[in-house]
Amino acid sequence: MPAPRYAVFGNPVAHSRSPAIHQMFAAQEGTAIEYERLLAEPGCFAQAAAAFFAAGGMGANVTVPFKTDACAWADSLSERASAAGAANTLIKQADGRIHADNTDGLGLVADISHNFQVALAGKHILLIGAGGAVRGVILPLLECRSASLTITNRTAAKAQELAAIFGIRAAELGELPAAGFDIIINATSGSLSGQVPAIAPAVFAQCELAYDMAYGREPTAFMRFAAESGAGRSADGLGMLVEQAAESYRLWRGFSPKTAPVLATLRAGEI
Ligand code: ATR
Repeated sequence: MPAPRYAVFGNPVAHSRSPAIHQMFAAQEGTAIEYERLLAEPGCFAQAAAAFFAAGGMGANVTVPFKTDACAWADSLSERASAAGAANTLIKQADGRIHADNTDGLGLVADISHNFQVALAGKHILLIGAGGAVRGVILPLLECRSASLTITNRTAAKAQELAAIFGIRAAELGELPAAGFDIIINATSGSLSGQVPAIAPAVFAQCELAYDMAYGREPTAFMRFAAESGAGRSADGLGMLVEQAAESYRLWRGFSPKTAPVLATLRAGEI
């Protein structure tokens, strides 16, 4: 029997570490899977996804810029995908219909609370950004019983819009209180190209963990800025990537992989 087929859709997608991660999960399960990178052209996600599943694909991950397209295209949505208006996981069901889910928020929460051992309950949390990456994590963060969740963004109106939808606070980027937050999470796409949101260093004065959803071989510009500004610890989003992938794998195959050895292998640069 041919190995079951999975894929990640994105544009660009050549850099994606998802194939390596999922192959390590499959090795843990003691099974063989195929997992490929599929480049789709903007505006052509539905065609590409339909072709993949028609050809026998069993499940897919979806990354930038197709998460909202995936949400619109799927036959059914989980509550968390529906709340986010974005999906990062597609699952072919027994009847052939495609179900969409969003595991990004769970990935972020698992990385912060399990891998970094930083509790979210009772904390004052700041989220920077108001794009698709933020939409996916608001609901799971709210479920962690934080003391407060505040959203800020370069374009203030977008933060205010999300704050109204989710019933959280919005604040202007330039007017954030000094020492006001325990956990500061950067979800701006500028981080991928080394741009840091215009935040006063004093905002980090009581920050226990500054978390950047972006990741790279070196600490990101946001991580360096946070550390220089007094944040206790700073982290990149590699652990979130592995954790969200593990939840996708579980949804596809009913097997929960161990994430720690996979993350250690990626950090060691072995893959
Ligand atoms: P994603 O799906 O990755 O969130 P997106 O929907 O394009 O991508 O959203 C990008 C987010 O990063 C937005 O919040 C954007 O701010 P604007 O709404 O003002 O555009 C933010 N962003 C991108 N580059 C930034 C920069 N250099 N400084 C601050 N915020 C930035």
